Amino acid sequence: MAKKSTMFVCQNCGARFSRWQGKCDLCGEWNTIVEEVVGGDGFSKINPKREGRQIDFVPLKGSTQTYTRLTTGIAEVDRVTGGGLVPGSVILVAGDPGIGKSTLLLQVCACLAEQNGADSCYYISGEEAIDQVRIRANRLGLADSPVNLASATDVHNIIATLEKTDAKLVIIDSIQTMYLEEAESTPGSVGQVRACAYELIKLAKRKGFVLFLVGHVTKQGEIAGPRVLEHMVDTVLYFEGERGHHFRILRAVKNRYGATDEIGVFEMMDKGLIEVENPSALFLAERQGNISGSCVFAGIEGSRPVLVEIQALVSPSGYSSPKRAVVGWDSNRLSMILAVLEARCGMNFSAHDVYLNIAGGLKITEPAADLAVAMAVISSLSNKPLPADMVVFGEIGLSGEIRTVTQTNLRMKEAKKLGFVSAIIPPAFGKDKKEKGAKNYDLSCYEIGNVHRLINWFN
Ligand code: TYD
Ligand code: MG
Repeated sequence: MAKKSTMFVCQNCGARFSRWQGKCDLCGEWNTIVEEVVGGDGFSKINPKREGRQIDFVPLKGSTQTYTRLTTGIAEVDRVTGGGLVPGSVILVAGDPGIGKSTLLLQVCACLAEQNGADSCYYISGEEAIDQVRIRANRLGLADSPVNLASATDVHNIIATLEKTDAKLVIIDSIQTMYLEEAESTPGSVGQVRACAYELIKLAKRKGFVLFLVGHVTKQGEIAGPRVLEHMVDTVLYFEGERGHHFRILRAVKNRYGATDEIGVFEMMDKGLIEVENPSALFLAERQGNISGSCVFAGIEGSRPVLVEIQALVSPSGYSSPKRAVVGWDSNRLSMILAVLEARCGMNFSAHDVYLNIAGGLKITEPAADLAVAMAVISSLSNKPLPADMVVFGEIGLSGEIRTVTQTNLRMKEAKKLGFVSAIIPPAFGKDKKEKGAKNYDLSCYEIGNVHRLINWFN
C-alpha cells in the first residue's frame, strides 16, 4: 500500500504545497493553508477493506413534494427569486459596502413579518447594534413590523435559539461577521465563513426556513471568502449600482429555483428602496437629444426588455498608445468592435482615445449590444448625431456580419411603447417564422447585414 504522507492544502482553491506558508500563491488568500493527510497518489482515500452498501435507484417519474413559495410583496424581489422564496432555500446576497443590502433585507423581512406574524421572521445583525437597525427601520417606516431582531455573532448561540422557533425567514447580516468557536481561525477568514455557512445552511434545510446570507465582496467584485460559498447556497444574488446613481440592480447569477440573469430594479430614496416598474423610462430619463456618440440599445435583461443609452466619446489621443476605457460593458468586446470597424470599414482609431459608457450605471453583458456600440462609436468619430427616436440591436461577427439576436419581438414592443419610431436590426429578422408579425409594431425597420453599410448612415 502506498505510504501516507501529509501535504499543505489551500482550503480556498485546493492548491497543494510541500510546506506551510501564510499566503496561497495561487489564489492569494491568507491563512487558508492547512496540513492534511493524503494517500500515496494524493487522491485515493477509499479503504479497500470496507464493503460498500447498495444504493437504491428510482425511476425519474414519480411524485414530488410541492412547495409553496413565500411571496414578499416586493415585486422586484419576487421576480428575481423566480416567483417568491422557496422554504428551506438559502440565498446569498452580495454587494459593495453601502450599496443597500441591509436596507433591502430589512424591507423584505418586515414585509414577510407582517404577512406571517410575530414568530416568523428573524433578523440577526453581526455588524450593527440594535439601535442602528431600529433607526433604519424608523427611517423606512417599518418600525411597527413584528420582526424579531438580535445583534449576535456566535453561530452556536444563533443555532440553539433558532432551533426553538417556528422561523419562516432568517436573515444573517453578514456571514463574514459570524463566528464559530470550533473553527479555529479568526472571524471573516475563509475557514470561519465556510464553517458558519455550513452550520446555518444545515439548520435552514432541516427546519425549512428561508435563509438569507449577506456576503461582502472583495475589491475585485467577488464574494469574499471561499468560492465554495456560492456552491453551498441555492441562489446567489448580486446587488449592484454606481455610488453616484440612485438606482440599484438586484441580479440573480445562480438560482436553483428560477431563471438566472433576471434583474430587479430599485431606486434608493430617503425612505428606502422603491421598486421601479419601468426601468427603460428610468434609464433614458436623462438623455439629451441630438448629440453625437449616443445610441439607444434595446436589450433584454432576464425576461424583460430594457432600453439603455450607450455613450461613446472618440477624441484625438495625446498618448503614444491610445486609451480605451469602458464603464458597464466588456472592454475586450469594445476592442473587438474597434478592430472590426478598422478592418472591414477602413476606419482608423489608432490616433484616438475611445471611451464608452452605459448611461445610468447598468452593466450589460449581452452581445446584442455590439451594433449599438458600433453606431455610437462611429457617430462620435464622425461627429454626427443619430436620430433620437431610433433603437439599435444586433451582434457583430469578426467578418463584419451582423447576426440575429433573440427576443426581437420583445425589444420592438418595448421601443414602440416608449415612443421610438425606427430601428436598426439584423437582417434575418422577419424571415424567421417565429418572428413573423413583428413588423406590425409600426416601427420603420432598417435591416443591415454588414457593418460596412453602417457608414451610409453618417453620410
Ligand atoms: P445599507 O443598507 O446600510 O448598505 P449595506 O448593508 O449594503 O452596506 O445602505 C446604506 C446606504 O443607503 C447609506 O449610504 C444610506 C443609504 N440609504 C438611503 O439613501 N435611504 C434609506 O432609506 C436608507 C435606509 C439608506
Ligand atoms: Mg449592511
